[in-house]
Amino acid sequence: MKKILINGGKELKGQINVGGAKNSAVALIPAALLSDDVVEIYNVPNISDIKSLEEILEYLGAKVSISDGKVMIDCTNVENKKITEEFSKKLRASYYFMSVLLGKYKKADVYFPGGCNIGARPIDQTLKAFRALGAVVEEENNRFKIYAEKLVGCNVYLDMPSVGATINTMFAAVKAEGITIIENAAKEPEVVSVATFLNNMGADIKGAGTSEIIINGVQKLGKGFTEVIPDRIEAGTYMILGALLGNPLKITNIIPEHVDSLTLKLKEMGVNIKVNDSDVEIYKTDNLKPVVIKTHGYPGFPTDLQQPLTVLLTQLEGKSSLQENIYENRFQNVPYLIKMGANIEFIDNQNINIYGKTPLKGTEVEATDLRAGSCMVLAGLLAEGTTTITNIEHVLRGYENIEQKLKNVGAKIDIIEI
Ligand code: EPU
Repeated sequence: MKKILINGGKELKGQINVGGAKNSAVALIPAALLSDDVVEIYNVPNISDIKSLEEILEYLGAKVSISDGKVMIDCTNVENKKITEEFSKKLRASYYFMSVLLGKYKKADVYFPGGCNIGARPIDQTLKAFRALGAVVEEENNRFKIYAEKLVGCNVYLDMPSVGATINTMFAAVKAEGITIIENAAKEPEVVSVATFLNNMGADIKGAGTSEIIINGVQKLGKGFTEVIPDRIEAGTYMILGALLGNPLKITNIIPEHVDSLTLKLKEMGVNIKVNDSDVEIYKTDNLKPVVIKTHGYPGFPTDLQQPLTVLLTQLEGKSSLQENIYENRFQNVPYLIKMGANIEFIDNQNINIYGKTPLKGTEVEATDLRAGSCMVLAGLLAEGTTTITNIEHVLRGYENIEQKLKNVGAKIDIIEI
């Protein structure tokens, strides 16, 4: 077990380089199983979720080598085995093994996935797509046995543009017979990066990044390589930090378009921010105006940034409001912000009002989930005094090298064993 200690209230200056996107890498690595050859993935972040995927791949017989952000996966001797409950529960992305194993072997035996406890996270849309492709899904005690004699292309309409269901449908359909069309597909950059990688291995996928994706099934996928896109959520987290404490903070290796919804919100508040081709410079700015935030699928405001953003909302002059539209239980950070001195009112479990500006004071808090954890890190860096954050394993699942990146710009932060 580890905890984070922060001595806050210090301005931060310098450069933070953004790593590869967690939510892209965790899909690209299982995608390798669809290949009958060797694939290479660059710019893979060094986070614990990647370690968990490596363990699952090796358990299936793949040869995996990871060095300096480069992952080589050799799938020539893979065997289809049950993904145990212990493996499945380790991370949300274990649901990608359902579809890659089904797509490759027409059979998968996987448990309900783990991941952050931020409300019910059903997989009904993924299962609906498997059935539409011709698979039988048997469910008992959270275990899913999925099998098909053959998978045949079909039209799938997703009830909501789910990232997981979109990627799972692509994985299951990529080697199906004929054409599959996903309607109301998720448009996240992570979906585009998966389609690009599959096409590089020999797939025929068009329309990724729009709400209609067309997959023309192919018989075989072979060698492939790809580079993980910059993590827009890590970038956004540090951009918010720049608005809180930057003197200035420069966030490098970003795709500005991927963080547009945040950049425009920061500008609406009045934050001094300069956007360049692949970086942004951000200054702490006084007298910021309150805003209304509503989370939506891409290109809307990302749910994964609303928790870290709440820290900044406590520093705006007046009443801001935040509506969470993706998850049922993504305000577990709020009681801890209140403990630190924030004035936040719960309307219901999807809406809060934030009244600023309130100083924050260091105290003992918990990272209840990954983004609640990054919220606590930002709050601790802003607060006067010492903040102790427990349960930080959540944070380490998603933020590469966070301690060193923050130290490099002048933060007083330490991760210690307890
Ligand atoms: N949903 C369903 N049925 C489904 C699938 C989704 O009802 O079959 C609902 C979910 O309950 C949720 C919403 O649709 O309310 C969005 O779910 P989605 O499938 O889009 O999310 P996900 O695939 O579970 C990924 C990321 C999340 C990120 C969301 C939205 C991974 C491993 N996780 O989750 O990342 O919040 O997309 O962008 O890629 C995080 O990084 O902190 C994180 C939670």
